[in-house]
Amino acid sequence: MTHRNTLHLGADPSSLATAGRILVEGGLVSFPTETVYGLGADATNGRAVAGIYEAKGRPRFNPLIAHLASFELARGQGVFSPAAERLALAFWPGPLTLVVPKAPSCTVSEIATAGLDSVALRVPDHPVAHAVLEAVGRPVAAPSANRSGHVSATTAAHVAADLDGRIDAIVDGGATQVGVESTILSCLGDRVAMLRPGGLSRDMIEDVLGFALAEGPEGAGDEPVAPGMLASHYAPRAHVRLDAEEAGPDEAWLGFGPGGDGRARIAANLSPSGDLTEAAANLFGMLRLLDRADIHAIAVAPIPGDGLGEAIRDRLARAAAER
Ligand code: TXA
Ligand code: MG
Repeated sequence: MTHRNTLHLGADPSSLATAGRILVEGGLVSFPTETVYGLGADATNGRAVAGIYEAKGRPRFNPLIAHLASFELARGQGVFSPAAERLALAFWPGPLTLVVPKAPSCTVSEIATAGLDSVALRVPDHPVAHAVLEAVGRPVAAPSANRSGHVSATTAAHVAADLDGRIDAIVDGGATQVGVESTILSCLGDRVAMLRPGGLSRDMIEDVLGFALAEGPEGAGDEPVAPGMLASHYAPRAHVRLDAEEAGPDEAWLGFGPGGDGRARIAANLSPSGDLTEAAANLFGMLRLLDRADIHAIAVAPIPGDGLGEAIRDRLARAAAER
């Protein structure tokens, strides 16, 4: 891994122009989206995209999401079924990724799509992301801006902790609002399948579709698996104990709603009032905060599975998985 001097940029117009120029020249730039910070590269430049895997220390090539400034630009990259079009019109810009068949005019490199016939597209809802994408004028591949297997980054400081010296620039646009990654839907045939729960809840999606989502990757018939959905992921160093009633003596407590911190060495609360939107926004930052050397395990309060709770429970289950 060659050392790169990492520029720390603000979100003023000249910094954003610099970020765009670095990306066009094939560099790696982290920037905020409404979900988490992304690690961006020009998606049409295979060499630049390969740099993402090297910087993250990702063991193998997973397909990446191509980010665009608008639905109009996304149409040039993918083929939208009527259902996919309805979803894009309802939720873009926003925390939704659509996996669609590649369009003949698709310019996203094979390394970003991992050689699949489909492409994952997203129009993020964040002024900084939007400005960067406008400045680049091409699709930008961007996984979450963390070292492979680590917790995703929701502030520029988290990105710097993981990737300083490994990427060309970090654009600081403050803390991200949603806090968990986008919901990924596969729209390859007539069906729409959930590949990853995320920042847009199932009920909001089903309201717009007027029918229930198919499940993916399991039970998805011939849907492709989202190859990046490794069981152990988002992993803090400490163990994670789910649906705990209270913390033990060498444990940290991650609460939701009142109570439970018991004998915890250190405690944080995702949302004292039990609000799932607030909990999602706090999730990755609090996991980082509690992941101290003197902590054996992080005990996590039960989180309901409705709304954004589905994505929160998914990420926590991955954090708790055997490594
Ligand atoms: O919120 C987000 O989605 C963030 C921000 C930065 O936009 N990005 C993100 O990217 O989470 P990443 O690379 O960590 O997750 C991309 C996921 C992976 O699980 C990958 O397997 C799946 O999308 N994916 C990408 N292309 C696919 C395809 N053609 N078919 C199925 N799954 C695909
Ligand atoms: Mg990730």
